Amino acid sequence: MNIQEHAHDVSAICRQWCKEGETIAFVPTMGNLHAGHLRLVDKAKQRADKVVVSIFVNPLQFAKNEDYSMYPRTIDQDCEKLADYAVDLLFVPETKNIYPDDLDQTTFIDVPTLSSILCGVSRPKHFRGVATVVNKLFNIVQPNIAVFGKKDFQQLVIIKRMVEDLNMPITVVGEDTVREEDGVAMSSRNVHLNSEERKRASTLYQSLSIAKNELCPARNSSPI
Ligand code: PAF
Repeated sequence: MNIQEHAHDVSAICRQWCKEGETIAFVPTMGNLHAGHLRLVDKAKQRADKVVVSIFVNPLQFAKNEDYSMYPRTIDQDCEKLADYAVDLLFVPETKNIYPDDLDQTTFIDVPTLSSILCGVSRPKHFRGVATVVNKLFNIVQPNIAVFGKKDFQQLVIIKRMVEDLNMPITVVGEDTVREEDGVAMSSRNVHLNSEERKRASTLYQSLSIAKNELCPARNSSPI
């Protein structure tokens, strides 16, 4: 698998593919890959000739009190998994490759209405950080298709809106959530849950599933 750290190298490879008429599907991630991410990669493989994955824990989307330094980083295992999936190009930039001025980013992408509700209430600058880094990554890779998980549904809606508002020539595809046996959505952050929190997360899912079945019995039992 081709692994690159620098944006200009990734852009050069992708531009060359584009010249050769190859289509590109892109899966941006923050690593600590699990079956949910690999499903996104599968979807990308079905939809384009070349698949690019990025692993970058984006400091701009974490508030000071959040888990940026604790976010699980498992690059060696991630590389092995992606190599098994025959990913064409893996982009693993260092922070200084994405934010050369030491996070002194003066231009941001904001999708204000959608970003200030739901999770945006408790994480006021989170979606601005997500939209800004995804925009940068899109500019580097210039994909035809980008695949995001429906697990982060608000993020998916915001990215779709950004692409539409800014006339980006990219099709954004949402892929279904992969769940653990107890119903909890697979997530890199599940490692932070203690057994009580894990039980509560599972109960929340079961409760939502029951409520959904009561309200719309004809549809399948997954709340999302
Ligand atoms: O969903 C994620 O892993 C991140 O928010 C993303 C889209 C890779 C941007 O950093």
